Amino acid sequence: MMRKFTNSALAILACLLPVAAVPQEAGFGLSSPAALQENGFLRFLLPRFSLKTGIRIDLQANNPEAIISTEDGVPLMNGLGLVFYLQTTVAATPRGKKAQRFAAWLDSDTGRRTVAQFKIDGVQVFTPIETLQAAEQATVFQGSAALGERFSFTNCGRCHVVGDSNRMKGIGSTPSFPVLRSLPDWEERFSTFYARIPHPSIVQLEGVSKPFDPAFPPANQPLWLTLEQLEDILTFVSGLTPADLGAPLVQH
Ligand code: HEC
Repeated sequence: MMRKFTNSALAILACLLPVAAVPQEAGFGLSSPAALQENGFLRFLLPRFSLKTGIRIDLQANNPEAIISTEDGVPLMNGLGLVFYLQTTVAATPRGKKAQRFAAWLDSDTGRRTVAQFKIDGVQVFTPIETLQAAEQATVFQGSAALGERFSFTNCGRCHVVGDSNRMKGIGSTPSFPVLRSLPDWEERFSTFYARIPHPSIVQLEGVSKPFDPAFPPANQPLWLTLEQLEDILTFVSGLTPADLGAPLVQH
């Protein structure tokens, strides 16, 4: 009797606690058809995204930034005799950006592979849909991958792990090229890296960067490059194998 009382008291507490405990900025809200929760799909999918990105997903949010439905949005996957779509807010709020990161992850090779890996009794349930959006995004770079590789190892490799041959070099807190390559917006980041901190005080892109301020000369060995060399770097990086941020946690 005592035990039963304790359990129900705990159950009440459990209902009350999460509301107070979940910090609102920690993630974003997602709503989805109940079927995806009941068959275990979201329990399979979401931790794989959250553990790698540190972004938590709240399925109880009042105004979710992402909605999976069978009606509207970008086609996501086929399964259960239905087509599922994803809609995300365009708002540039921290929560909105995290929802967009989720959408980009789902639309990446890793995300699609994760969707396809979900099985019930050994049988695949959903087939991811490759969207036109993803196909259009793939840019073909015209530079020389070999020159880009050499330039990157020589110049970027003093801070970044660029690939296997300088795996033990680089500065620990600096993101590696394979990790950067796995981000949905890697192209944007590499195309504009010279303008992103900490590079402006080190890098001069010929004809684009403002000259170093004579009052603040570059602290490190400065690095000069041309637009052609930047195109070579982009060509090299586009061919890198992205670090797998969504590897299966358990084999199913
Ligand atoms: C002196 C050290 C140093 C050198 C040299 C350097 N980087 Fe970086 N880079 C960093 C650090 C530190 C960061 C991480 C900045 C952060 O986390 O905000 C970074 C971040 C980046 C990013 C991600 C930027 C973002 O905003 O997401 C790209 C892309 C990048 N570097 C490309 C390059 C390329 C290409 C080269 C060589 C041409 C290069 N870096 C040379 C230190 C360096």
